[in-house]
Amino acid sequence: MGKKINASAINGTAGVPDQNKIPDLYAAHVSPGKVDLYRKYGLVLVPGKRGGCILRSIDGKSYYNCHCNGGVFNLGHRNARVIGALTSALRTYDIGNHHLISGPRARLAAMLADTMPRGLTQTVFGVGGGEAVDLGIKLARGVTGRHEIISARGGYHGHTGFALATGDKKYRERFGPMAPGFRQVPFNSTEALKRAVSAKTAAVIFETVPATAGILVPDRGFFTEAQRICRAAGALLIIDEIQTGFGRTGKLWGFEHFNVTPDIVTLGKGMSGGIYPISATVFHERFAPFFKKDPFIHISTFGGSEVGCQTAIEVLSISREQKFLDHVLRMGGLFKRGLQEMGEQSPGLGLQVRGLGLMMGMKFKDETTALFLVKVLFDNGIYVVYSGNDPSVIQFLPPLIITEQEGDRVLRRIEKSFRQMAGTK
Ligand SMILES: Cc1ncc(COP(=O)(O)O)c(C=O)c1O
Repeated sequence: MGKKINASAINGTAGVPDQNKIPDLYAAHVSPGKVDLYRKYGLVLVPGKRGGCILRSIDGKSYYNCHCNGGVFNLGHRNARVIGALTSALRTYDIGNHHLISGPRARLAAMLADTMPRGLTQTVFGVGGGEAVDLGIKLARGVTGRHEIISARGGYHGHTGFALATGDKKYRERFGPMAPGFRQVPFNSTEALKRAVSAKTAAVIFETVPATAGILVPDRGFFTEAQRICRAAGALLIIDEIQTGFGRTGKLWGFEHFNVTPDIVTLGKGMSGGIYPISATVFHERFAPFFKKDPFIHISTFGGSEVGCQTAIEVLSISREQKFLDHVLRMGGLFKRGLQEMGEQSPGLGLQVRGLGLMMGMKFKDETTALFLVKVLFDNGIYVVYSGNDPSVIQFLPPLIITEQEGDRVLRRIEKSFRQMAGTK
C-alpha cells in the first residue's frame, strides 16, 4: 500500500497491459482499502467488456448486473440508443458554457416539466446526485429563510456538503462540525414527523424508497400526510428520486405511486443512461423568483453539459414510454413471485422480499446470511450489493430492460445460490 507503481510496469509481453495487475495499480494509486476488502472476501471484479444486463470481468467471468449502481444502468450497459444520442450530440455540441443560454438544457428542462406534476416547471442541472441534493437544500433555505432540514434515519442523499449533513453519523462524524440545523426522524412515521416539523423547518427530504436504509417501501398514505404536515408548517417537501427515478419503480417517478406533489425533486444516476453524468434539481415555479433575482447565486461549470442533456433527452424518451414502464412492473412481479417461492423453499434464510417495480430488496434473517449470500451469488455470476445502513438487506435492482428469458436465468442462479447457502444442494 502506498508504493508507487508506474502504469507501464503492468505491461506484460509485447507491451500489452497485464490485466491481472490492475488491482495492484488501483491499490497503489486509487484505493488500497477497496482492493484489500474485495480481496479479503473474494469479490474482486474489474469490469471489462459490458453490454445489456451483463458485466464481464477482465478475467473473462460474466455477471448479471443486478445492482446497476443504484439505477445508473437502468437501460443496461452501453445502451445503443443512448450511445447513439451521445455520438450524434458530439457532432454538434460539447460541454457548453454555463454562462450562456443553451438549447439542449432548455429542451431537457421543458421535457422534464412535461413529465412532472403541475407547477414543477423549473430545473437547475448538476453533475452528480449529491450536488442536486445540495442545491435542493440551498433553495429550500433560501426561499423559506429557515435553516432546519429533516431527513430519514438510515437514509442517504450523498456525500457532498448539505447532502452529507442529512445522512447518518458514520458518514460524517470524522469531518468536523456539519452545517447546523439537520436532524433525522424514523422513515414512514407521520407521528415522528409531526413532532419534528416546526416553524423553523425549511424542508423535509426523503428518498421515495430509501435504498441505503434497506429498500423501505412507505405506507400508501405516508407521503400525502408528510406533504400535509410540511404545508401546515410552511416547510417544503423535497423528494430524492436519484435511485427511484426514470422508471425504476414501474412509474416514471417513484413518488407517482403515492399521491403527493413534492416542492422539489432531485434526479441523478439513471438520468445519465450509464453514459454521461448529469443530475437535476426540479422545483416549483413559485420559487423561480429566487434565481431570477440573482441567476449566478448557484453555478455548476459542468452541470447539465450540452452533450449530457442530449443524452438525457434520449434516456427520458425511452423511460417515459408506457410500454417500457409496463415491462418494469411485469418483471418486478415475476421476480417478486420467483424470489418469494425460493424463499419458501429455503425457510432457514428467513427471506422477505420487498420493493416497488424493479426497486427490490431481499431481507434475510440476519446480516451474516445476507453478506455470505452476496459472495455466493457473486460466485454464481450475479452481482448485487447489500444496503449500507441495513446489511441484512440485499439490494436487487436488475436493469429495467431485462427480458423474461434473462430474468429466468437470473432466478435459476439465485435458486442455486439459496440451495448452496441452505446446504441442501
Ligand atoms: C438516493 C440517493 N441520493 C443521492 C445520492 C448521491 O448521488 P451521487 O453519488 O451521484 O452524488 C445517491 C447515491 O447513491 C442516492 O442513492
